[in-house]
Amino acid sequence: MAPRKLAAGNWKMNGDLAALAEVDRLLAAHPAPACEVLLCPPAPLVQAMKARIGGGAIAVGGQDCHARVSGAHTGDVSAALLKDVGADYVILGHSERRADHGESDADVAAKATAAHAAGLVAVICVGETEAQRDAGETLAVIAAQLAGSIPQGATAANTVIAYEPVWAIGTGRTPTSAQIAEVHALMRERLQGAVSGADDVRLLYGGSVKPGNAAEIFAIPHVDGALVGGASLKAADFGPIVAAL
Ligand code: G3P
Repeated sequence: MAPRKLAAGNWKMNGDLAALAEVDRLLAAHPAPACEVLLCPPAPLVQAMKARIGGGAIAVGGQDCHARVSGAHTGDVSAALLKDVGADYVILGHSERRADHGESDADVAAKATAAHAAGLVAVICVGETEAQRDAGETLAVIAAQLAGSIPQGATAANTVIAYEPVWAIGTGRTPTSAQIAEVHALMRERLQGAVSGADDVRLLYGGSVKPGNAAEIFAIPHVDGALVGGASLKAADFGPIVAAL
């Protein structure tokens, strides 16, 4: 059976303990969603968010992990620790980490290997910049990022791919449905041979997903959910996105 579609929220460097009240609101409004729901808060909030959810139908994830299990890496968080405090997922290779921390495809693949070893599902992000799209390089960029970022041992159960055009993140701009469809079809094709169960790997779209455009985006072939930034911070915004899936 194909895995359930996934509505994932990336809180980025937003939120605090008081913001966990949004989790209560989301659970109250959507106690039994048709899709899987995931929230990825900043690492210090993972444990408290998990406790707040209790037996509710929301999974929790981190936004990054180190490739090593432990050691002298000040400021970093291991996949094993994320798992220990209640995470089931971790976002890896987000364009903000690729840009802010110089993460390469190889770094992302190493982190994904660590995530898998710790029992986490890796949400591996790819996406072109506006300059790359304008230069007609989008498909080549996505294909190269996929080839370099997906580790050995990836399966439909332990890996999710998120297509996030850099120019659509936090800008209110989204690609056309045809542009999203083209990239998602390429990703599905490129996963063959690279991932066990390629047809069942969930392919998320991310970049200015809002309640008003979610249904249209979810109708696009090979879109199996969304990775939502700003609109995941409030239950009033994220709830309708969850309901649209
Ligand atoms: O990871 C999600 C993200 O990059 C999209 O952000 O705010 O455009 O939904 P946003």
